[in-house]
Formats: sequence, C-alpha cells, structure tokens
Amino acid sequence: MSVLLAQSVTKIYSSKGNVSYKALEDINLEVHPGEFVGVMGPSGSGKTTLLNILATIDKPTSGHIEINGTNPTKLKNKQLALFRRRELGFIFQDFNLLDTLSIKENILLPLVLEKMDVREMESRLQECAQLLGIEHILAKRTYEVSGGQKQRAAIARAIIHRPSILLADELTGNLDSKAAKDVMESLRQLNEQMNATIMMVTHDPFAASYCRRIIFIKDGKFFSEIRRGTNRQAFFQQILDALSVLGGNFDEVSPTRV
Ligand SMILES: Nc1ncnc2c1ncn2[C@@H]1O[C@H](COP(=O)(O)OP(=O)(O)OP(=O)(O)O)[C@@H](O)[C@H]1O
Ligand SMILES: [Mg+2]
Repeated sequence: MSVLLAQSVTKIYSSKGNVSYKALEDINLEVHPGEFVGVMGPSGSGKTTLLNILATIDKPTSGHIEINGTNPTKLKNKQLALFRRRELGFIFQDFNLLDTLSIKENILLPLVLEKMDVREMESRLQECAQLLGIEHILAKRTYEVSGGQKQRAAIARAIIHRPSILLADELTGNLDSKAAKDVMESLRQLNEQMNATIMMVTHDPFAASYCRRIIFIKDGKFFSEIRRGTNRQAFFQQILDALSVLGGNFDEVSPTRV
C-alpha cells in the first residue's frame, strides 16, 4: 500500500474579481513507505500548494488524495484535526517552536496531547534526541540554541508520535550551509534507520541531493522525475542538470558545499 496517493490533483484559486488561477494541474503521485521524496520547481510552480493539499491544510479543486488509505477530504473538522495530528508530521522553514517552552517540552507536545504514559514519552524522547544529536540541549529554551539545533528539535517533534509521513516545506531555508548539512544528515538518518517516510519541498539542490527521488514541477504540472543511485555527489550534479532544463530562477549554488 502507498503512504500517500494523489490522483489527477488540480487546484484552482479563485478570487472575488472572478479571476481564477490554476496553481496545480493533473498531478499524480504515489509515495511508498520508507521513501524520501523531494519536490522541486521554480518559484510559483505550485510546490507549497501541493504540500498544503497533501498536508490536508487545503483541498484540491478536483482529483483524489489518500493518506495511508484514508481520504482526508471526507473527514469532518474534528476528525480531520485528529487525523492530521496522528498521521502527519510537519517541519516548517521557521521552525514553529514555542518560545515559552523548553526544547524538551516542545518535542513532547504531540505526545502530551495524546496523553501518553510518561515513561513511554521519556523513552521516545531519548531515542529521537539521540538520533538527532540534541540530547545536550533538551533543557534549554529555544532562544538559547542555534538555528540548526532548533530545526533538529522541530524534526524530533514532527517524528515523535511516529506519523505515517513527514512533510517539510523549505526546512533549510533559514539555515546557513553548515546547519543545513546537519539537518539533512539528520533527515537521512531518520529515513535510513527508522524507515521514516519523508516528502520535502525545496529550492536548494544541496538539500535535495539527500532525497532518493525528486519530482520536478513547472507551472503546476508534473515535469520530470529523477532517482538517486548510490552517490549523493553525482545526484547533486543530476539535480543541477535537471534544474537547468527546467529553467526558472534558482539560488546560486556554491559547489564547495557538496
Ligand atoms: N491562496 C492563494 N490564492 C490565490 N493564488 C495563490 C494562493 N496561494 C498561492 N497562489 C498562487 O499559486 C501559485 C503557486 O504558489 P505556491 O505557493 O504553491 O508556489 P511555490 O512553488 O511554493 O513557490 P515558492 O518557491 O516561491 O515558495 C502562485 O502563482 C501563487 O501566486
Ligand atoms: Mg513555496
């Protein structure tokens, strides 16, 4: 079974002046358990729109989506909120951690909401913190840690309830290259060691080189897809080549980061 299925998804935004805009057209996508998928495309190509639809934050105008066999567009508000909380993990560009809580409290929040047994919470916390290399900052506040550490804490929070899929939008967008590398290495470990299923939207070819498959979209439509072999550096070059075929504006990339 697939973790995520999108069939012929189309999204049309319409505004008051009757001007409508087709942000996505006929997108088909299937993600299997344990996959690490990237979505790339020029600015305005519909990446966030697609992610928001898959994240059940927005609904498609037409087409069908399924997450772990459930069509979330059929759920009522309260059921949908629960579904989202249990089945999905989110990672954002700006971390979205609560400043009034410690790193540990931030990470545990999804489990507190589920009223989980304290010992089980602690054991999950240790497991995640260790994997992400943030054991030593758990007692700190968000303003006492670096951007990379914040993002790794946010990843721990997104994974601690063991969701079916992790969804990330530009998660390295606010990080310098060293922190971005740490964060991507952490995601790779989550994917390889915990078999976490991950889908991330990114502008950054370096971050994307950690994915095992990349889908390129342009003007809201599927454009192409590439898969990684064993070598990440070679995949990075493949991504740059695919982007140059795709056209559009991409950030300057320094080859020294690879
Ligand atoms: N709520 C909305 N109402 C109307 N149009 C929208 C809305 N949200 C997005 N759009 C339009 O849909 C298109 C796709 O936007 P989207 O945010 O998905 O692009 P993106 O690929 O994520 O871009 P970026 O790389 O800049 O983040 C854009 O042309 C955008 O202006
Ligand atoms: Mg976007």
